[in-house]
Amino acid sequence: MALSGTGLFTPPHAISNSELVESFNEYARRHNAAHAEAIASGVMPALAESSVEFIVKASGIKSRYVMDKHGVLDPAVMCPRIPERPNGEISILAEIAVAAARGALKSADRQAGEIDGVLVACSNLQRPYPAIAIEVQEALGIEGFAFDMNVACSSATFGLQAAADMVAAGHARAILVCNPEICSGHLNFTDRDSHFIFGDVATAFVVERADTARGANAWEVLSTKLKTKFSNNIRNNFGFLNRTAPEGIGLPDKLFIQEGRKVFKEVVPMVSELIVSHLAENGIEPAALKRLWLHQANINMNELIARRVLGRDPKPGEAPNILEEYANTSSAGSMIAFHKHSADLTAGDLGHLCSFGAGYSAGSVILRKLS
Ligand SMILES: CC(C)(COP(=O)(O)OP(=O)(O)OC[C@H]1O[C@@H](n2cnc3c(N)ncnc32)[C@H](O)[C@@H]1OP(=O)(O)O)[C@@H](O)C(=O)NCCC(=O)NCCS
Repeated sequence: MALSGTGLFTPPHAISNSELVESFNEYARRHNAAHAEAIASGVMPALAESSVEFIVKASGIKSRYVMDKHGVLDPAVMCPRIPERPNGEISILAEIAVAAARGALKSADRQAGEIDGVLVACSNLQRPYPAIAIEVQEALGIEGFAFDMNVACSSATFGLQAAADMVAAGHARAILVCNPEICSGHLNFTDRDSHFIFGDVATAFVVERADTARGANAWEVLSTKLKTKFSNNIRNNFGFLNRTAPEGIGLPDKLFIQEGRKVFKEVVPMVSELIVSHLAENGIEPAALKRLWLHQANINMNELIARRVLGRDPKPGEAPNILEEYANTSSAGSMIAFHKHSADLTAGDLGHLCSFGAGYSAGSVILRKLS
């Protein structure tokens, strides 16, 4: 099987850490002034200020792209404003998926008529049905089948394995996998612990048989290995049953919440062990890997994982970081790193793509450059 082409859609607005912190701190000042009495009497804690230095040191994030920066940065709104569209118009999630998909088809040197299936694999689906993937299929004029799947931040690697399995089974000649992520829609911009974490983006890629791949940057999928283990440490309780429990509507758990420190401590060993065992099962020495496209959630986690896999510090460029510019883009993060930092390698080179996130879930993919 092969990953024969990739595409990337980058949203129109960028927000720097200083812009984000300034709006959060103004929100906190207004909040504290409005609740001065409750805060003074100890009924409610005051909101502390956020800081650019903390964000860079704790996460490595310096900026992020979003679909709408005005709402996010308005202390009276603290949320993107994305107007509803009539059903006759393409939905925004499908629109950005299609933009990335067009790039992926071009890079794989494939026409829509040569694709038999579409997966939208992402954390943040805009609606339960009809599937966003079927809308993408329609917009691109693809025959065959399409469906959505969600394994949170690991959706792209799980989507890659699912697509590779379906192509191997003969159910499709080629499958287009899209990872549109409007993370700003589920991020609580009033939460100091997490307001800086996510950005918006869409990636897409084509999976087909290695012997038919003809893209200029095609990679053979040597092996995939997936793992899940239940945890409540990253969670979002938004869903269709919310209206049946009105007491819970609007509470912070209906957006992204996490125990960041616990996630850090539990996921680093889980992912490192997955990668090390996967490489060993395939008889590949870590030293043989030319590049690691790691999941992009936190630079300190990535440095630790790279060190555990390689047994040394990664050399400059060996485990590229796109967090500085894009922040955590959920399932799309390692695909952005791959899209931007793989074309320079040569045929026969080995690389490793990984993901991890809510579930917990983790995906490990070993790739070898074809062209
Ligand atoms: C979220 C994360 C960046 C936080 O970094 P951290 O080093 O664990 O920071 P902590 O939450 O322990 O907070 C450390 C201190 O900074 C403070 N702090 C938190 N947010 C802050 C902010 N925005 N500005 C300034 N200080 C802040 C905390 O209050 C705490 O202060 P204290 O020591 O006085 O109590 C980090 O835990 C992380 O990335 N974890 C993994 C998350 C992940 O991968 N999730 C997957 C999502 S898909």
